[in-house]
Amino acid sequence: MILVTGGAGFIGSNFILDWFSQSDEPVINLDKLTYAGNLQNLATLVNDERHSFVQGDIKDSALLMQLITEHCPRAIINFAAESHVDRSILGPEAFIQTNIVGTFRLLEATYAYWKNLDETEQNRFRFLHVSTDEVYGSLEPQEPAFTELNRYQPSSPYSASKASSDHLVNAYYRTFGLPILITNCSNNYGPYQFPEKLIPLMIANALAGKSLPIYGDGRQIRDWLYVSDHCSALRRVLEAGKTGETYNIGGWNEKPNIEIVQTICALLAELTEMKGHMTQGAHGNYPDLITYVKDRPGHDVRYAIDAHKIERELGWKPAETFETGIRKTVQWYLDNQDWVANVQTGAYREWIEQNYNTMRT
Ligand code: NAD
Ligand code: DAU
Repeated sequence: MILVTGGAGFIGSNFILDWFSQSDEPVINLDKLTYAGNLQNLATLVNDERHSFVQGDIKDSALLMQLITEHCPRAIINFAAESHVDRSILGPEAFIQTNIVGTFRLLEATYAYWKNLDETEQNRFRFLHVSTDEVYGSLEPQEPAFTELNRYQPSSPYSASKASSDHLVNAYYRTFGLPILITNCSNNYGPYQFPEKLIPLMIANALAGKSLPIYGDGRQIRDWLYVSDHCSALRRVLEAGKTGETYNIGGWNEKPNIEIVQTICALLAELTEMKGHMTQGAHGNYPDLITYVKDRPGHDVRYAIDAHKIERELGWKPAETFETGIRKTVQWYLDNQDWVANVQTGAYREWIEQNYNTMRT
């Protein structure tokens, strides 16, 4: 079996659903269920014996040791993290605790288990750490895309905490020989993404007739990857990646934020008209909702991933283009408006209030 941490979040839940569409190998899913964790994402697995959910914190060493020694996983995949840059600006502490201290505790527990395995099991074992392209900092428009050799230059408390976790993971390989793998991926989008990240926020706000807040001039560039492509890349790295190595994962889809929002507006107009979806507000005039707001402090101007290494060495390439992926995503949010309504809890509304009314006016 494999142990997945953070499997109730956006990418982790997509990964588990994707895993069971390809394999019957059981998954233990350890997740703290922060505001971003949502077991509704895994509702189709309620009576599925292949999936066991444990609510808990990756900082809890005793729980980690108990789970690992009881289940003897052949691999651990670490998705658990605080993942939102804006939240890390308003309150960095949780990022330090989960992303740095939590990863450290998980490495300690994993190493304590791994060093007592027999040689065959030691050689088979993998610790896959899911990280981000943000550790490389910001690119100028003319600079080449990030390769695995780029210097770490994180800008936000979030990216600094992920950079720290990557260094710790590498240190457990160099110092203790723990068979680790690291992936650094670009911006994901797709089903079950919490509606505070750019794409789902814009879809949810547009459907509710609320403003579409663009930070700064909207010219910042991200490299977008449909989430199922990230999942297939992670499966491939787990299966064939060389231990101690880092693999960059990206979609070859560099787009400025304003273009993303305009595309969403156009797709919403097309798809809501076609299907007669009920919307509360804009009646198709979605671009009128675009509002420029105060920029994110330390906002990285451009990310771009050079994904040649994973293609050359592991034969992985994304299956979706941005055009196919964004169409599926908008359609999913139109078909799952209840899911969005259910995650918009009181605590979430408070955060939105603080971010957009205190920070950006
Ligand atoms: P997310 O915020 O949607 O989900 C994170 C999950 O981790 C949640 O289910 C949450 O409950 C859980 N969690 C948080 N703290 C925990 C703790 N202390 N112990 C156990 N569980 C905890 O994040 P995501 O977008 O799914 O990202 C998953 C991973 O992928 C993160 O490590 C992130 O840095 C990385 N990543 C994300 C993207 C992206 O675009 N979303 C891109 C590249 C890399
Ligand atoms: O690059 C990978 C990273 O992508 C992951 O490591 C992070 O976990 C993930 O959250 C994402 O980080 P970003 O900061 O790029 O994502 P976000 O969706 O918050 O913002 C995307 C871009 O859109 C960014 O340039 C900021 C901008 N933005 C965002 C929001 C929420 C806006 O203009 N308005 C908004 O309201």
